[in-house]
Amino acid sequence: MEHLECIFCQKKFPLDIFDPFCPQCREPLLYPAPQKKRSFSPEKSLPLEKFLDFLPLLRVDPSLSLGEGNTPLLRLDHILKDFNLPPVFVKNEAHNPTSSFKDRGTAVAVQKAVSLGMGRIGTVSTGNMASSTAAYGAKAGLETLVLLKEDTPFEKLLLTGVHNPKLIRVRGDYGELFTKSFSIGRRHNIYFMNSVDPFRIEGYKLTAFEIFLQLDRQIPRFLFVPVSAGGHLAGLIRAFLDLRREGLAPFIPIVVGVQAQGCSPIAQAFASGKVKVERIKKAETIAHAISNPDPPAGNIVLRMIRENKGMIITVSDEEILEAQRILAELEGIFCQPASATVLAGLLKLSKEMKMDKNDPIVLVITGSGLKALESLKSLKTDALDSSLSDLEGTIDSLLT
Ligand SMILES: Cc1ncc(COP(=O)(O)O)c(C=O)c1O
Ligand SMILES: [Zn+2]
Repeated sequence: MEHLECIFCQKKFPLDIFDPFCPQCREPLLYPAPQKKRSFSPEKSLPLEKFLDFLPLLRVDPSLSLGEGNTPLLRLDHILKDFNLPPVFVKNEAHNPTSSFKDRGTAVAVQKAVSLGMGRIGTVSTGNMASSTAAYGAKAGLETLVLLKEDTPFEKLLLTGVHNPKLIRVRGDYGELFTKSFSIGRRHNIYFMNSVDPFRIEGYKLTAFEIFLQLDRQIPRFLFVPVSAGGHLAGLIRAFLDLRREGLAPFIPIVVGVQAQGCSPIAQAFASGKVKVERIKKAETIAHAISNPDPPAGNIVLRMIRENKGMIITVSDEEILEAQRILAELEGIFCQPASATVLAGLLKLSKEMKMDKNDPIVLVITGSGLKALESLKSLKTDALDSSLSDLEGTIDSLLT
């Protein structure tokens, strides 16, 4: 029988797809590592098959995949020269089917849903996870329910609605909605694959395995990742721990979780030495996708970061927008403000601590800028107007 484990009380519980929380600690449960020896299958092209040994699946149904993973690892040559940094790489997860890292997790959770014979899936989300779950639900032919915040903007609604799930905008507290979704799921036979679902978290590991292979089996010294609910960071650390456990890598990176100053409950707990994250009252940041005042995996993140010598830092909205601009102008990468936090975090940290010139750094870009166009409101594009007859003169005035 399949089990999930609680890293706080160390107890194991039989898998209950409708409630992935420890009944005692109310912390998210995680999928335990198996006792057997695990290895990669590099000859396979589908990442789910390549890393199957490390996933909580017995087999993969390729017909459920939308082509997630195999995302590029790009060296930021201009940025590292301009800011005098060690080799910096971007793992660009915006190249996933619905333009965010969420597809890594949804792909695994949907495989699980189908293998368990579930006909209905759902999620509670404001953006990226909603469109990801709706798209994979469509591909798998599952009835899909997406519960959104009351004030979700119309454009965000469209990006999910295009896949034709059952969509409901819900009035009331978002944290309560998250918790309530599980009891609703049990009553209506809907598997709610929310932000800290144990199968979703295992899916996020594949990003780290790909980074390892793309760096010729090297582990980066630093890995920067944005943090909201905490599931993504937990999955990435678990992947590096897996690599170390299997003897494939000697150490794990210094994982730097980045939060926006205007909503940084985990960073605040980290800075003040607390073991529990406290809900914050007011969240205000341009990085909407990582604005969670009550992160369900916050305590797990705190613990994993401390046990593995990582850190959680904050960056301001100004630093985020500046990093978003730099990535777009110097490197051709257009990401969401939530994702630009990773470069903002690196620029901030590199001023405060010494980074060895030979140690590679990886920034995980989690989502495409095309999904958060409102962040460009302050952008000035200096387009000149010209008639056809004056065009060459106008061009001459522009060229350097
Ligand atoms: C673009 C983007 N980056 C980062 C995150 C944070 O991931 P997590 O909630 O797993 O910490 C999210 C979460 O929604 C996101 O949409
Ligand atoms: Zn527990």
